Amino acid sequence: MANVAVVGSQWGDEGKGKLVDWLSERADVVVRFQGGHNAGHTLVIDGKVYKLSLLPSGIVRGGKTSIIGNGVVIDPWALLKEIETLRGQDVTITAENLKIAENATLILPLHGELDALREDATAAVKIGTTRRGIGPAYEDKVARRAIRVSDLADPELLAKKIDTLLAHHNALRRGLGAEEVDGADLLAKLQEIAPKILEFSDIVWRRLDEAKRDRKLVLFEGAQGAMLDNDHGTYPFVTSSNTVAGQAAVGSGVGPGAVSYVLGITKAYTTRVGEGPFPTELFDDIGQGLGERGKEFGVVTGRKRRCGWFDAVMVRQAVKTGGITGIALTKLDVLDGMDELKVCVGYKLGDKVLDYYPSNMADQAEVEPVYETLEGWSDSTFGARSWDDLPATAVKYIRRVEELIEAPIALVSTSPEREDTILVKDPFLD
Ligand code: IMP
Repeated sequence: MANVAVVGSQWGDEGKGKLVDWLSERADVVVRFQGGHNAGHTLVIDGKVYKLSLLPSGIVRGGKTSIIGNGVVIDPWALLKEIETLRGQDVTITAENLKIAENATLILPLHGELDALREDATAAVKIGTTRRGIGPAYEDKVARRAIRVSDLADPELLAKKIDTLLAHHNALRRGLGAEEVDGADLLAKLQEIAPKILEFSDIVWRRLDEAKRDRKLVLFEGAQGAMLDNDHGTYPFVTSSNTVAGQAAVGSGVGPGAVSYVLGITKAYTTRVGEGPFPTELFDDIGQGLGERGKEFGVVTGRKRRCGWFDAVMVRQAVKTGGITGIALTKLDVLDGMDELKVCVGYKLGDKVLDYYPSNMADQAEVEPVYETLEGWSDSTFGARSWDDLPATAVKYIRRVEELIEAPIALVSTSPEREDTILVKDPFLD
């Protein structure tokens, strides 16, 4: 049996929630290893809808350990609210089934404020962030001034760390014309929630080592997608963490060998929220149709997602940079009823044709997609559960995608319901 990491291979919103839920049913431990409450996973279980942001998807199922790893940035207020909402939906959340890394970084209100101040500043490059304070919190982590979960247990240390943090942030806020943050007030706010967070605090790396010893099955649950990765994505229009599977090890405190199968969740077309380049973006009725049929609105911010054709060059790059073993192709049914489908197989840049996505920001914005046109299908693929349920042209589309991205299809998802899945290869049985 293999430990599996589930990651997005495009710009997020690939439909990871359903697949993670499907896999988490069999996992013993489910771990989040990067990102924060910028992520949004919708799970539909027995017709009941659960919206998760920060909590690992395993939390909605009994008998699992859910872990928030050190690589995650945690807004403690958002976390407590999410716990309360889920408890209201009869989900059991206790210190037994939820563990938070004591060395994880906290997102504070000042991070969200800074995120918004920067996004609204006209001189800056607008990223189109979720304004959740994700970037500013990671900046403080790397700059070694962040407040971490374990700091909440030591009021004296916490006060000192707040002073250090505010020496930086208040200078920045003065420069941006924002009101300074009062240290005593922030300390009081943190002390108020400290016991509620510390209840879940744990030595996560040890927990995972025990899980390994006991041969427990671990599912590493990624958020966002490869093209939002801080190193490998469309920088600077990316998130502030590494979203590729390599981060699963660093962000939870296990060795690189802990992940044996990387499942890349891939939408049958492409979407993106926020700013930044998107070579195959469609501004016509076709794009509009994809958005409507695919219900392409952000779970977290409610923003309309930009839609476009499948970009095989980009996904192939994600397969390589993220070590993706196999693909789960999602939302195939959204392509139903289209006469023809285009797939990007290269990029024109000046007089050259590239077989990769360049790293230079100007080149990324300038490339033009080179398309291959494939035949569409008129029959419905919605709810298909085997290859035989699919029209021949849909199978042809999948096979061509597989060839172009240089990774095998492990699963095809044909509706939000977990049973509506064509299983080609079980990632846990690699
Ligand atoms: P941040 O993560 O809030 O800093 O936002 C940086 C970029 O990542 C923006 O383009 C966001 O729209 C995008 N982003 C962040 N989280 C998600 C996600 O869960 N799905 C899709 N896009 C996301």
